[in-house]
Amino acid sequence: MAFPENKAENLLGRSTPNGISNQQSSRANVDLPTDIMAQRHRSWVLGLPPQCSVPLASRPLILAIGGGKGGVGKSLLAANLAARLANLGLRVAALDLDCGGANLHTYFGMSSVPANLGDFLVQNKSDLFGVLSPSNVPGLSIASSQRDDAWAISDSLSTDGFGRLWSGINSLGEQGFHVVLLDLGAGTSRHTIDLFCCAHAGIVTALPEPTSVENAYLFMRTVFMRLMAHSAYRLGRASEGAGIISALNHDIAGAPGRSYTDKLRMLYQTNPAIVGPMAGSLSGRVMGIMINQTRSQADIDIGKAMEMAANSYFGFASSYLGYLNYDEAAWKSLRNKRLMLLDFPQSIIVRRLNEATNVLLRQCGIEFGPHAGAANGLGFRSL
Ligand SMILES: Nc1ncnc2c1ncn2[C@@H]1O[C@H](COP(=O)(O)OP(=O)(O)OP(=O)(O)O)[C@@H](O)[C@H]1O
Ligand SMILES: [Mg+2]
Repeated sequence: MAFPENKAENLLGRSTPNGISNQQSSRANVDLPTDIMAQRHRSWVLGLPPQCSVPLASRPLILAIGGGKGGVGKSLLAANLAARLANLGLRVAALDLDCGGANLHTYFGMSSVPANLGDFLVQNKSDLFGVLSPSNVPGLSIASSQRDDAWAISDSLSTDGFGRLWSGINSLGEQGFHVVLLDLGAGTSRHTIDLFCCAHAGIVTALPEPTSVENAYLFMRTVFMRLMAHSAYRLGRASEGAGIISALNHDIAGAPGRSYTDKLRMLYQTNPAIVGPMAGSLSGRVMGIMINQTRSQADIDIGKAMEMAANSYFGFASSYLGYLNYDEAAWKSLRNKRLMLLDFPQSIIVRRLNEATNVLLRQCGIEFGPHAGAANGLGFRSL
């Protein structure tokens, strides 16, 4: 691997855990962050968009589902992952941030909700907690966007809305939520990418098709560039950062086609004080990869190739979380406006979802099973 996951953190020096204790927790008092998240905290903060105030600790755990392309299963994954996490005993808030095509509520059979994200972001009638509606899964609430004018929400995110949304997400930790999950829209708009940059773990979802894989790489590239820009800004070196970003966008003289990790390594030689932390923002967050609608081993293997490319070409701390097979359980349950996880708990696709959830949580430092040490088998890993 050209730019190992921990290399950037090594360049930065390990961040301090902010005095956060990481004792084993029981179901009643599951507490975040974990050791791993606390150690990543400084690098994670560097990649946050400028509108985001810096939290002292990484709570709640923020997950984002993106992927660049429409119709690849982002909402199906978001809805069922949120439900799976809630079934494991975590309190989860899922936010529908697909301004142009919000339909997360449909996965839960909710045709109307008393309040929605627009009431918070556009009308300023409520805080984020006030627009959450309980779902049919205990422990899981949804902030829907269903009745809103997409552009109004999008406009509000361009002005003060982004910062308010960020404060709202963090305040959900104080309301007892362990996880906030962001279901993002298709494409690489600034808001979508910046929301992805806000997550401790962002999941890129792709179908095993050339167009989808291509868009997933474009999505990763855009995230990479935004993280570089955010970290330069947070270091107070925005103009020097712009020069570094420009160099990253050009070939190295005499060595065309080099990876971003190669370019970062070269730029580090002349400007370690800026390039080191900028690269560190890449390893401050998990880049999860999911392949959806697989039909063959070749389809499944695409995720592994994407993981390698994300690590070695971009320098992300990336992990292939797993795959979901093409399964009629997916569209059958959606047609009935019911959750696949509840309707077809024994199906292969639900088993795959559960496995991917475990990998994701492990990447975030949360372990399961008899050795996890907690009463419900949910605990935290010590490094
Ligand atoms: N593994 C699967 N097997 C069969 N059908 C699937 C699978 N995953 C998703 N689908 C179907 O694909 C369609 C699109 O899924 P979904 O709405 O989750 O995509 P999306 O990425 O959120 O789309 P958008 O970008 O429009 O928000 C749905 O009709 C869903 O039933
Ligand atoms: Mg969707």
